[in-house]
Amino acid sequence: MGKSSARTLRISTLALAMAMLGCSSRDVPAVPAASTKISWGQTPEGQPVELYTLTNAKGSEARIMTYGGVVVSLKVPDRSGALGDVVAGFDNLEGYLIPPPYFGAIIGRYGNRIGGGRFSVGGMEYQLAKNNGANHLHGGVRGFDKRVWSAKPLSLQSLELSYLSKDGEEGYPGNLSAKVTYTLTDAHELRIEYSATTDKETIVNLTNHSYFNLDGEGDILGHQVMIHADQFTPVDKGLIPTGELKSVAGTPFDFRMAKTIGERIEQKDEQLIFGQGYDHNWVLNRTGPGLETAAKVTDSKSGRVMEVLTTEPGLQFYTGNFLDGTLKGKGRVYAKRSAFCMETQHFPDSPNKPAFPSTVLKPGDTYRTTTVYRFSTI
Ligand code: GLA
Repeated sequence: MGKSSARTLRISTLALAMAMLGCSSRDVPAVPAASTKISWGQTPEGQPVELYTLTNAKGSEARIMTYGGVVVSLKVPDRSGALGDVVAGFDNLEGYLIPPPYFGAIIGRYGNRIGGGRFSVGGMEYQLAKNNGANHLHGGVRGFDKRVWSAKPLSLQSLELSYLSKDGEEGYPGNLSAKVTYTLTDAHELRIEYSATTDKETIVNLTNHSYFNLDGEGDILGHQVMIHADQFTPVDKGLIPTGELKSVAGTPFDFRMAKTIGERIEQKDEQLIFGQGYDHNWVLNRTGPGLETAAKVTDSKSGRVMEVLTTEPGLQFYTGNFLDGTLKGKGRVYAKRSAFCMETQHFPDSPNKPAFPSTVLKPGDTYRTTTVYRFSTI
């Protein structure tokens, strides 16, 4: 839906509500304004999918669909105030059913890889699908990115999604009740709050897999990146962490001072060769449990700046190395390195790396994390 038609719909809904309640235009009813919703087709199994539009007071707009909890579009101003869509995606649901490599989706139960798809928790060993070579990736064959979430609009700017993942789904133990709230604030922030509870000891590591391009087109090699991390977790050929926390000093992984993505990406570095570019987890420098800045990305062309704040210990910075130009949407071709991801998370393969921060969730405890993508301009 275009911006003006969304607004017309909202105004007419308000007018209708006022007429029904017998209000004059001066006493607006105390009904919370809800985000607009349209039907967006159905899954091959016949489940209806809805698309919600969140709009902030300054005109920024996020569209979220119930399939995968996907951020379908995110329009924020450039330095001249013109709104532009900064995430990769498609024009219709069909584009997402192919499926694409997790465009904009909620990832669960476990963001990134688990070595051999095997882990133990609560004294039991579990074998998950090996859907990425010998390893398990992003929750398996049908992870949270391929499930229809229930939506509850909280306001014009906030949408709560929930999903109950049944005991044994994709091989994971416990009924996991997951909730993700997207809020588009007036400070041009997309705030994502994740929570989950279980009835059996399990593991959980949720994230969002939006692919950003702050200019909306072209490659992202000229974007300047700062990552607030002194260390990263090197990987083997299968992209499973070796367990080492390696200093970024003197490596192409040192983003403590802003560098363009392209400056060192083609260096003959073993880690860059394994990832075919950046596809690694950074160990964020943290001072406490609250929201702290993880990264900042600046695009001097559009003037857009994106800051990532999180409560999580890790950040997977992925430079779209596996995009190959076969996917197209929104009039764009998704070529190699035409978008980047900043997936806030616990470290990959944590269930098999006792020294990494734990991803275990026990009955009675609540998993809670928050990540904010904050947009501004220079
Ligand atoms: C993550 C992984 C990558 C790749 C993408 C999706 O970021 O780390 O290796 O699988 O998801 O294509």
